[in-house]
Amino acid sequence: MKYALLLAIVALAAPTPRLDAQIPPDSVRTDSARTDSLRSTLLGVYTEEQAAKGKDLYLGHCQSCHTAADFTSNDFKANWVGKLVAEFFTYLVENMPESEPGALSQEQYTQVTAYVLQLNALPVGPAPLPIGADSLKAIKFEVAPAPGGAVAMRPGRGFFHPHPRR
Ligand code: HEC
Repeated sequence: MKYALLLAIVALAAPTPRLDAQIPPDSVRTDSARTDSLRSTLLGVYTEEQAAKGKDLYLGHCQSCHTAADFTSNDFKANWVGKLVAEFFTYLVENMPESEPGALSQEQYTQVTAYVLQLNALPVGPAPLPIGADSLKAIKFEVAPAPGGAVAMRPGRGFFHPHPRR
């Protein structure tokens, strides 16, 4: 009897296997893409041809308001690096060109996305970036660390005070 009680206590106290230990933070969890099948933009997820078409679209539809630096700056990286390419794509579809959101086709937005990857010095690969937000959920937006340090990430777009308050 005493022994059974002891066993019960031991069973209760023993740590239960942490089944949730590998669940990623909300920001990367998606319904249709399991994280263990996530691919990285560092591994070549678009083609040269796709990026070239994206560049033409960029020149025609985006350049009036943007410079290429808008898509490679620290602010840009703070907004998008670490997210799914699908999130970036959906932002474009829903918001850009600001003067006419949704003006391009899904294929064209995908090409512009490929061009943005190219601007970030990401490698081309054997297969084109798949078209549409659903397929792009399987790809994570990552960039190579900046030379001499981690990818520049700032707490926000706010002011950065390098010196202690006076
Ligand atoms: C009429 C002007 C205009 C055009 C054309 C335009 N944009 Fe924008 N874009 C903006 C403005 C303004 C913002 C900033 C919006 C904000 O911060 O809310 C912006 C923001 C963005 C951002 C977010 C940048 C960041 O740092 O996160 C991306 C990406 C973007 N635009 C891509 C595009 C692409 C791709 C095209 C062409 C298909 C395009 N834009 C066309 C005005 C424009």
